[in-house]
Amino acid sequence: MPALVLLGAQWGDEGKGKATDLLGGSVDYVVRYQGGNNAGHTVVVGDQKYALHLLPSGILSPGCTPVIGNGVVVDPSVLLSELSGLNERGVDTSKLLISGNAHIITPYNVTVDKVTERFLGKRKIGTTGRGIGPTYSDKINRVGIRVQDLYDESILTQKVEAALDVKNQLLTKLYNRRAIAVDQVVEELLAYAEKLAPYVTDTVLVLNQALEENKVVLFEGGQGTLLDIDHGTYPFVTSSNPTAGGACTGAGVGPTKISRVIGILKAYTTRVGAGPFPTELFDADGEALRRIGGERGVTTGRDRRCGWFDAVIARYATRVNGLTDFFLTKLDVLTGWEEIPVCVAYEIDGKRVEELPYSQSDFHHAKPVYETLPGWSEDITKAKSFSDLPKNAQNYVKALEEMSGAPISAIGVGPGRDETIEINSFL
Ligand code: GDP
Ligand code: IMO
Ligand code: MG
Repeated sequence: MPALVLLGAQWGDEGKGKATDLLGGSVDYVVRYQGGNNAGHTVVVGDQKYALHLLPSGILSPGCTPVIGNGVVVDPSVLLSELSGLNERGVDTSKLLISGNAHIITPYNVTVDKVTERFLGKRKIGTTGRGIGPTYSDKINRVGIRVQDLYDESILTQKVEAALDVKNQLLTKLYNRRAIAVDQVVEELLAYAEKLAPYVTDTVLVLNQALEENKVVLFEGGQGTLLDIDHGTYPFVTSSNPTAGGACTGAGVGPTKISRVIGILKAYTTRVGAGPFPTELFDADGEALRRIGGERGVTTGRDRRCGWFDAVIARYATRVNGLTDFFLTKLDVLTGWEEIPVCVAYEIDGKRVEELPYSQSDFHHAKPVYETLPGWSEDITKAKSFSDLPKNAQNYVKALEEMSGAPISAIGVGPGRDETIEINSFL
């Protein structure tokens, strides 16, 4: 069973980085398949803390080859500074592989992201401002720049010209900004070419050959199921497919190769940016979850919106991803509450609804129906097995598992690699 997908089951920031890092020592490849440096994955190894944005979390495991797949959008300046930051800390990054088909986030994509958000005013998405949406939109419009284009100056110039043709009209006539010069962009991009060259390859071939040789490949999602462009809370989503199918298209691996799909699930819920969030709390409990859970964005530094666990969302994530397992994270953050409400269904216009409504307006009206579970006060951060947990914490986990539709195979009780309870092995 060589290929596993590990993805966010909620709105991102579930602890994917920690979970990937935990498995990194036992897998041969860790592959990012979508998104870009909108992701912020915090990994704690011993007393060292790493914040990764574009690099797969497997980069911290010496035996593992990290791969940036074709479905990722790459900002070369961010990538190079992330690599040099890790090198300065003694991390070997020389094994990194980057798909020549991955798209480049150009400086004008970042500009367009920011001006579009400003133009949308109160209807804005609350993007990370990293140029993600405009880069994917150029990809779909077939005016994108790919990593391989950096190695042919004449093609690169033609492509930048084509991309800027319409954008400069928009920037100058609609957004009241200065036009962007083709030469300047080409020069900036060409300057990255040589530095990236050692890493660029046909990652589809590499990964498929690895799978034929029975190597273990882990696909690490960015963002989360409800931020998926097709299956999330559109339009308040990111512009790629973090859901399991995205691993196939974003890495060039067939669905028959994937044997396990692990959903990373926070023991409560958070969201960054705009959009509906039925269990969001605006009271002292919300504030306490934010404070105790350290819920502040790794990428943008924004406070995360916090709320109780939502089982409707977990069930939905199980279904659209075909989840085989959950990795429940941050259970320790809930220590100290006398009672913990869990959303088991929604009430929409007076009716009880058990499953996520497909209609955007229904979801905006959804009110959580709560069941309250008894809490615990004992410190659980040293727990090593399920039976080490206090009875009420065990019951909380069992209740979530029953409501969510897939077994909880691991539990996070702290940010460190070893602060994890393994119930079923992932490999
Ligand atoms: P990601 O984007 O899914 O990788 O998640 P983030 O790194 O953005 O946010 C998760 C945060 O929770 C990070 O600061 C992690 O170090 C931390 N974390 C992960 N798992 C646990 C856990 O089980 N308990 C606690 N207390 N913190 C955790
Ligand atoms: P990780 O991988 C949480 C959110 C943004 C915004 C929306 C669109 O750390 O879980 P974008 O810049 O992608 O066009 O923004 O998506 N968003 C995230 N929220 N965690 C992330 O990544 C996110 N990446 C994007 O806040 O609401
Ligand atoms: Mg994050």
